[in-house]
Amino acid sequence: MSNKTASKKLLVTGGAGFIGSNFIHLTLAEEADWEVVCLDNLTYAGNLANLQECLDHPRFRFVKGDIGDPPKVQEILKGGIKVVVNFAAESHVDRSILGCQEFIRTNVQGTQVLLDGARESQVELFLQISTDEVYGSLGPEGKFTEQTPLAPNSPYSASKTAADLLVRAYHHTYQMPVIITRCSNNYGPYQFPEKLIPLFVTNLLADKKVPVYGDGLNVRDWIHVIDHCRAVWTVIEKGQAGQVYNIGGNNERTNLEITKMLLEILGKDESMLEYVTDRPGHDRRYAIDASKIETELGWRPQMDFMEGLRQTVQWYINNQSWWQAIKTGAYLKYYEQQYGIKF
Ligand code: NAD
Ligand code: DAU
Repeated sequence: MSNKTASKKLLVTGGAGFIGSNFIHLTLAEEADWEVVCLDNLTYAGNLANLQECLDHPRFRFVKGDIGDPPKVQEILKGGIKVVVNFAAESHVDRSILGCQEFIRTNVQGTQVLLDGARESQVELFLQISTDEVYGSLGPEGKFTEQTPLAPNSPYSASKTAADLLVRAYHHTYQMPVIITRCSNNYGPYQFPEKLIPLFVTNLLADKKVPVYGDGLNVRDWIHVIDHCRAVWTVIEKGQAGQVYNIGGNNERTNLEITKMLLEILGKDESMLEYVTDRPGHDRRYAIDASKIETELGWRPQMDFMEGLRQTVQWYINNQSWWQAIKTGAYLKYYEQQYGIKF
């Protein structure tokens, strides 16, 4: 259980978001040697409700702040942080198409500020949480390996690629101990209902149609968020500095397949499916070759997809107040009153 004399300190940025909050829950439950400091500036995607049970944990501290704020970052890092895991990002492709200023500010400049702070305080590992989208789009054959050339297609993926290149350069120039992970599409609890699976589940629960972009035949390689979080821990424990590790679920599905699975789980028919205008520049197919992390570090995804999807749908059924507060915007007002945070 909890251990007040934990000796190692981890900085998790973006820990009030989807993957970061799942990572913090897992870490507090399973990594008794580690204290966790979470730095998150609570954008629309950050939600303290995701960390509700962690806030009073003796090995956890939440700091509201921006990864692009040098004094704040330096102050935290000088408090004995050994490992930085940088989840903080603007993460939604559609929003980046509408305007990408915040994507450059957080994903690129924010990463630079964190890198400088981590270098100055000589952290033992800087782990950059990147994405398979940096590799661009695949045709019907083949998979992304760590050698696939970087060819991002959206403003979001371009900003993540810029960050990866900075991280790589800090290793080359300053011999900083860095690692980059590139994971495929995650699903699971606490995912903001603007992304495909939680948007569709919450729409269907509210008896609203689900908007499928284009012909619905774009392919994503889905992985349960806890499998991703365990892969991150494997990399912290066994990864080699200077390396890139792809992480994937070996689980390719078209958006139409996902939609039909959700309709089936929720007992709805195809009249709830609505084809809408395609996303501009929509990447056709992502598929990850994860053989490097599997053979070199011994990690493998564990969750069966249908089982993971059923559990995820059940989580949204059980936590209607969580997503309804987001859909109505009430979660922002609550935290404004509770924590004096202005949105
Ligand atoms: P998310 O949008 O749910 O969460 C992002 C978090 O970062 C939020 O809590 C937000 O408040 C915080 N944040 C944003 N700007 C910040 C800033 N300037 N300073 C401090 N905190 C800030 O994102 P997610 O889906 O959990 O993704 C986390 C990371 O994983 C991202 O880097 C993303 O690129 C990467 N990734 C996501 C997926 C996926 O399928 N969701 C797959 C591969 C990689
Ligand atoms: O591949 C990893 C990436 O996965 C992460 O880096 C991103 O942060 C994350 O948002 C995700 O990007 P995608 O664009 O793949 O995810 P999204 O959930 O937005 O869309 C998944 C697919 O579903 C994509 O082909 C677009 C489609 N889609 C999405 C939405 C929101 C629809 O058809 N309708 C929708 O309403």
